[in-house]
Amino acid sequence: MAEDKFEKLIDLAIRRGFFWSSYEIYGGVAGFYDLGPLGTRLKNNIIELWRKHFIQQHQEFVVEIETPVIAPARVFEASGHLEHFTDPVIECLKCKRKYRADQLVEELAGIKAEGMDLKELLEIIEKKNIKCPNCGGPLGNLRYFNLLFETYIGPYSENKGFLRPETAQGMFVSFKRVFQVMRERLPLGIAQIGKVARNEISPRQSIMRLREFTIMELEFFYDPDKPHCPLLEERYSGEKLRILTADAKSRGEERPEEYEALELINEKIIKAPWLVYWMFVSRDFVHNLGISFTDMFFDEKMPHELAHYSKQTFDQLVKVSRWGWIEVSGHAYRYDYDLARHIEFSGQDLAVFKKFEKPTILKEKKVIIDKAGLAKEFRSEISSLMRILESMSNEKLLKVVESSTDVVVIDKFRIPKRYFKVIEVEKKIYGKKYVPHVVEPSFGAERLLYVTLDHAFHESEERVVLKLPPYLAPIQVAVFPLLSRKEFILKAREIHMKLIREGFYVIYDDSGSIGRRYARADEIGVPFAITIDYQTLKDNTVTIRDRDSRKQIRVRIEDLSKILYKGLKGENIFEFV
Ligand code: GLY
Repeated sequence: MAEDKFEKLIDLAIRRGFFWSSYEIYGGVAGFYDLGPLGTRLKNNIIELWRKHFIQQHQEFVVEIETPVIAPARVFEASGHLEHFTDPVIECLKCKRKYRADQLVEELAGIKAEGMDLKELLEIIEKKNIKCPNCGGPLGNLRYFNLLFETYIGPYSENKGFLRPETAQGMFVSFKRVFQVMRERLPLGIAQIGKVARNEISPRQSIMRLREFTIMELEFFYDPDKPHCPLLEERYSGEKLRILTADAKSRGEERPEEYEALELINEKIIKAPWLVYWMFVSRDFVHNLGISFTDMFFDEKMPHELAHYSKQTFDQLVKVSRWGWIEVSGHAYRYDYDLARHIEFSGQDLAVFKKFEKPTILKEKKVIIDKAGLAKEFRSEISSLMRILESMSNEKLLKVVESSTDVVVIDKFRIPKRYFKVIEVEKKIYGKKYVPHVVEPSFGAERLLYVTLDHAFHESEERVVLKLPPYLAPIQVAVFPLLSRKEFILKAREIHMKLIREGFYVIYDDSGSIGRRYARADEIGVPFAITIDYQTLKDNTVTIRDRDSRKQIRVRIEDLSKILYKGLKGENIFEFV
């Protein structure tokens, strides 16, 4: 029998069909998990809730796209993942087992090692005499291991491709298309939900660290000259976020502090107002998974822990029973890093043109060349000289001319300065080009599934009740005939089918005592159980039992759906009678 909460939760997950290790019949492969029927529905409900918070509620300027899982190598050269998406690996020189070096240092020496370089890690490993935890053998061959999964595109071994480690690159590569579709307006959010793959060195922690998982990401593009986020004041003025800043950590603080929305901007604690806004949205989204505000906070990454693309990052941490604080989302200020790199590597113009309300006048110096004078002076060499002069930009020529006194030296030619005249011209500027800045909230769906289950898991009187928010419950309603007599069963089946037709996810159960049936439904978090009893047969009423309070109300069958809809939104159903 399982002992602690984690073991009980894993037992429940396997027994009732939330998740289990993939490829079990072949011994399983670390970092791969199947979701069962209930796990799949729960994950889909979490995804739908994310869509509601991040897309549906912001649909005027946030849209969702879908791009491929496999990308050509060039994309990850540009994104920097081929160079930087690595973890340090060390191996046992005796049993050949490989370990993620920073994790080993953290576990065996109790030193926080994320972001340390190989030299720092090696020093600690030697100083603390860290050996292989498996066989006690010496450790060596410390190096960086790239986490990208590699493949080939088509039957061409030179055509390297990689499985994406984040959906984000799809949004950057397709930015211009989506920008055009959205009538060239900023700010613009591009969201994507999809599978990603990371070849983790030694994944443990159940579905918390997977080699293949679903990510939910928003790349939010805005004009860096207009970083202001009006929604922040409208929606979150006076509200607070719990944050442990990098500054506080460097002073030795370990507890998060509360900061007001505007304080975060005005005091420049967070570099981008839109990053603050999406952190508030994330706070509310995670809260709606059933996690209290005090069980979460945002932890700012230290400068040496930042991903290669980020100028500032906050991890959203949630407390879980087995592992303490774990990361469920990352909030990065990606600046213009990704678009600028794709501009450089693709040679395409991904910048945005901003039209000014009225054109501005710019005064500019222009070099006028006295061609007739030069022709007389240089005679047979004039065409070669003109070719050189015409290939030079105005800026370059101006620089040479202005820095010369009497003679302008260009290539082999020594040209008297009198043949050049610098005049001032007026230029109308209609707008300007810029590369948008990006902030990114990014969530792992399976981690959210785990933290949701962990927080919903309750035990009372030796019984498990999964107190999932009703709108997340994989099964929404259970229908029970009080007795397994034909008239009860027929009526219960009729109600079961009616609720299915009306769109609910419903289970029917007539086996065992009614107490056992309630217990089976509670264990998988069914929020409402309907019982067909003697009175149903007389007056077409049924009882609805509320999972968490175990209170019951009697309602008319014709009112059932209306009441269930309300209850599934999280509203109190006892107010209806
Ligand atoms: N796109 C965020 C991440 O890769 O973690």
